[in-house]
Amino acid sequence: MCGIIGYVGTRDVVPVLITGLKKLEYRGYDSAGIAVVNGNGVEVVRAEGKLSNLESKLNEKQLQGTFGMGHTRWATHGKPNENNAHPHRDCTGQVVVIHNGIIENFLPLKQRLQKSGHQFKTETDTEVVAHLIEQNLKDGTKFVDAVKKSLKELEGHYALVMIDGTEPGTIVAAKHGPPLVIGLGDNENIVASDVAPLLAYTRNIIYLEDGEYAIADQKSVRVFDEKDQQVNRPPKKIMWDAVMAEKEGYRHYMLKEIHEQPRGVRDTFNGRMFEESGEVYFNDLQFTPEEWANIKRVHVVACGTSWHAGLIGKFLLEEAARIPIEVDYGSEYRYRNPIVDEDTLVIGVTQSGETADTIAGMQEAKARGAKLITICNVIGAAATRLSEGVIYTNAGPEIGVASTKAFTTQLTAFYLLSLYIRQLRGENRDDLRFAMHEMRVIPEKLEAILKKEKQIEELAHKFYKSQDFLFLGRGVHYPIALEGALKLKEISYIHAEGYPAGEMKHGPIALIDENMPVVAIATHTPVYEKVVSNLQEVKARDGILIVICDEGDEAIRKIADEVVEIPWTVEPLQPILAVVPTQLLAYHIALRRGCDVDQPRNLAKSVTVE
Ligand code: AGP
Repeated sequence: MCGIIGYVGTRDVVPVLITGLKKLEYRGYDSAGIAVVNGNGVEVVRAEGKLSNLESKLNEKQLQGTFGMGHTRWATHGKPNENNAHPHRDCTGQVVVIHNGIIENFLPLKQRLQKSGHQFKTETDTEVVAHLIEQNLKDGTKFVDAVKKSLKELEGHYALVMIDGTEPGTIVAAKHGPPLVIGLGDNENIVASDVAPLLAYTRNIIYLEDGEYAIADQKSVRVFDEKDQQVNRPPKKIMWDAVMAEKEGYRHYMLKEIHEQPRGVRDTFNGRMFEESGEVYFNDLQFTPEEWANIKRVHVVACGTSWHAGLIGKFLLEEAARIPIEVDYGSEYRYRNPIVDEDTLVIGVTQSGETADTIAGMQEAKARGAKLITICNVIGAAATRLSEGVIYTNAGPEIGVASTKAFTTQLTAFYLLSLYIRQLRGENRDDLRFAMHEMRVIPEKLEAILKKEKQIEELAHKFYKSQDFLFLGRGVHYPIALEGALKLKEISYIHAEGYPAGEMKHGPIALIDENMPVVAIATHTPVYEKVVSNLQEVKARDGILIVICDEGDEAIRKIADEVVEIPWTVEPLQPILAVVPTQLLAYHIALRRGCDVDQPRNLAKSVTVE
């Protein structure tokens, strides 16, 4: 998630921009830059790595001015280096743009602009916006009108801040997906990705909505909708402190990250699924059909929640590839003398990219000639430097120790990889288009589940004193049972076990009694009837049944004590939806028990030792 800030007012703009970017560091980044407009025109300074590198450069090259913009980049298109760092400019160097999100149609736009003579300097999608505005500035069009015209040509998700050195003092900000807020100051106005950088100057905040753009100068801020009609948007009075601002008002990072999952899933599939051509495309992973045909087996290596994602990946990839997929804990794989050679593909799944056991397993496989892919949430992390291909889960930094949005974006990555494999194996493009459509509507289905948080919170208050929980699932939902149990135990310290529902009669059924809450996932999969039978077994022993099921499932309502309904989707995507109620249940039980949700006892966010 990139960090954006733009300022117009009377203060020395460089300290405003740097201080603001520091408030946005928590969003994660790999490079940064600022642009200042002053008597010398537009001056830009950028640097790879941390903000301290940018500050060192600014100590050498003092920029003066009261109008400018700054950006911290979380790379999606183009390597994390100085050249790809924002801000980006047009051929004249006067149009300056910073961006968060993905311009999905940047390739055709770039080709069209290059044919018109535009010279591009970077690998980024963002640079296209600067040249598009330049193109629309021709024939004397004013800057704001050129921006309006350009916005109508963009597809994808973006938060943009744009200025023109020839018209200093005017900032145009546009939102279509990622957040963008505007602070109304006294004789100054400031735009940013979120509230954190604004609180030093004002508490009067305007939140832009999707499709809207704002025109700001020192004295005024005007908001317009996509039909260019001015919108009356009274500012909100934000009383958060700085830490609350980083949590955007959520009580804990974990809760914020649970609610960020619709955006994270969307940012993970955006720019990779193209329904028109029926193709999946990965920036950092290329296989030819022949190379894929030589892969005879796949090993997935991971730990904890990422290992649960790997178990679901097994279902998706075996269905797509029809070759054996093994899933192993890194700590086991590294010492079990795995059967690996050059026709083995090893997929390391790791949010942090720094988990010692996972990396060691990958290194062991690499030493034995395996090809490696990494699914990771951190650009340039150790595990990504080991492999030939990377699928980044664009979830943005995950601060809460209990993994949530990383998990659902890992499942998204596996789903995309399964479509990619089906594509390599020559599957019918219409079938792939249908599968892509089902993925594309998942974010709105996640939003619908998140709206049930209050119901789940009340559920948590009924059971927070329980000493033991059992989680049951079958097929693609068995890993969700494991994940739900892990979430609960790692943040509430309640003992919980995940089990295949069919396995209950081989032992765990002895645990069932009136004090044992049993959380089960019973959505419509080929084994739905079997799961219903297992639920009857629980009821017959006075177990307390909490069931996650499809909307409108009356049969489940008859046998369950508590029901959480989730929207229908195709079986391979059901785990992305079914996991969310278990995340919220764990969160609210832990909260009710007074536990430290974001930093549970004994746990680290990334286990970089054996
Ligand atoms: C999950 O909530 C835990 N924080 C933990 O199991 C984690 O998933 C595991 O340590 C793996 O971390 P990684 O994804 O960064 O490799």
